[in-house]
Amino acid sequence: MALLPILCYPDLRLHTVAKPVAAVDARIRQLCSDMLQTMYEASGIGLAATQVNVHERLIVIDLSQEHDQPLVLINPELVWTSEGKHLNEEGCLSVPGIYDGVERFDAVHVRALDAQGHSRVIEAEGLLAVCIQHEMDHLLGKVFVEYLSPLKRNRIKTKMLKAQREDAR
Ligand code: NI
Repeated sequence: MALLPILCYPDLRLHTVAKPVAAVDARIRQLCSDMLQTMYEASGIGLAATQVNVHERLIVIDLSQEHDQPLVLINPELVWTSEGKHLNEEGCLSVPGIYDGVERFDAVHVRALDAQGHSRVIEAEGLLAVCIQHEMDHLLGKVFVEYLSPLKRNRIKTKMLKAQREDAR
């Protein structure tokens, strides 16, 4: 297993649209395992392959405190969304320290392959539904701050660039 570097906003590579995973093979299983370890190490609850600069449709999620309920979604597609939407506070490992409200469907059903390559449909609500929508956005090259006002987004961009300059010293 290996820790992977996480791209930080406003890195332009975060806006790459991911391609479908062609085959769930040993390389993909290794990537899942590395992404889970990277996410746990960073105390995150979700990570998209885009964030580790791999532009294939793969996300990992684990909402458990104990890090023992990993969920791998390969080539995820929304097959149903609820009528209702709610504002939820979100954060992102690619935008460290920033939390803000984004509207998401209350519930979604998503079809995806698991790490064994089996197709299944996950019925999600609450935090899991929010997390799935946030991570699926990453695969489309979208970071949650893009839902915020241009003023807020520019402030965040400036703050991130300043922090990155300071880290580089
Ligand atoms: Ni994120």
